[in-house]
Amino acid sequence: MWLPRLAVALFCLVAMTAISSRAEEPILIRFSHVVGENTPKGLGAEMFKKRVEERLAGKVAVEVYPRSQKFNDDAVFLALLFGDVEMAAPSLSKFRSYAPVLQVYDLPFLFRDVDHVHRFQRSEIGQQLLQTVLPVGIMGLAYWDNGMRAVSANKPLRVPADADGLVFRIEPSMVFQQQWARVGVVGIPMPFSRVTDAIREGLVEGQENSWSNIYSRKIHELQKNFIELNDSFQGYMVITNHDFWEGLPEDVRPVLEEILAEVTVEVNRIAREQAEGTRHKVAEAEGVEIFTPSAADLALWREAMVPVWKQFEPEIGEVVINAAVAAGATN
Ligand code: LMR
Repeated sequence: MWLPRLAVALFCLVAMTAISSRAEEPILIRFSHVVGENTPKGLGAEMFKKRVEERLAGKVAVEVYPRSQKFNDDAVFLALLFGDVEMAAPSLSKFRSYAPVLQVYDLPFLFRDVDHVHRFQRSEIGQQLLQTVLPVGIMGLAYWDNGMRAVSANKPLRVPADADGLVFRIEPSMVFQQQWARVGVVGIPMPFSRVTDAIREGLVEGQENSWSNIYSRKIHELQKNFIELNDSFQGYMVITNHDFWEGLPEDVRPVLEEILAEVTVEVNRIAREQAEGTRHKVAEAEGVEIFTPSAADLALWREAMVPVWKQFEPEIGEVVINAAVAAGATN
């Protein structure tokens, strides 16, 4: 009789030990992104990890997966929903399938500069946009900056006619496809991880991105002609799974939110510094020409591209576009 009793007691002991050690395991946050560790987003993700593990030691652990190691931006939304990762920060240009209104960030020549974008993001509508992915179960936690976009090509681009007939790598944004089609460019949406290969293998003749991404992917070593078009803002939305976030213990979530707010300030400072610093490094690289369009040149690009605003107005909404325009006027 004593043998089965001993077996039951042993089983209970093992089970209890397993349960209690599981209860002590820290909550794991896997943060997946597609850029290099030294870019504003890459540094931000690492900074978030460091501060969380200092202030929530033993309670939360953060694993950062840079350079599309885990998922590219197309896949990361589903990965969040299925619980394969807990945080990501895709470019605002990658949200169309989930929240078409966010295409406001892609509209060409809507935002003059990053300060203009910030005024819009701080506005009531800008804040509401953070929650537009909620119906699918994804929560927007913060906006992170990268900078305004510049264009590179394998020939000089000064006026829109110079771009006619070229093939570009674009982010998967319908706005970008249409805006570039208006100057005769075929835009092929591709994940960020393929940009350099696509240029090297001659699949595309141009692309556009923030200076930090251009520099980190060494695009200036392959393409020497740049135009500082500043036609759109490249920034991110830091996102998480709504149920995961809301299910976090009460002594954990506010700390994570506080850390995220601090890191956001740092990321945006780094983004500003890198926009200038990496532009400078690209400009210094052998053979590189950066063309800064005059007001008259810019007027031609604007005239060619701005009509897409009307095309996307039904998806974005006039109110949102007007609010973004109005944010430019407040100084
Ligand atoms: C791109 O695909 O070019 C960017 O969205 C990459 C990034 O995350 O900055």
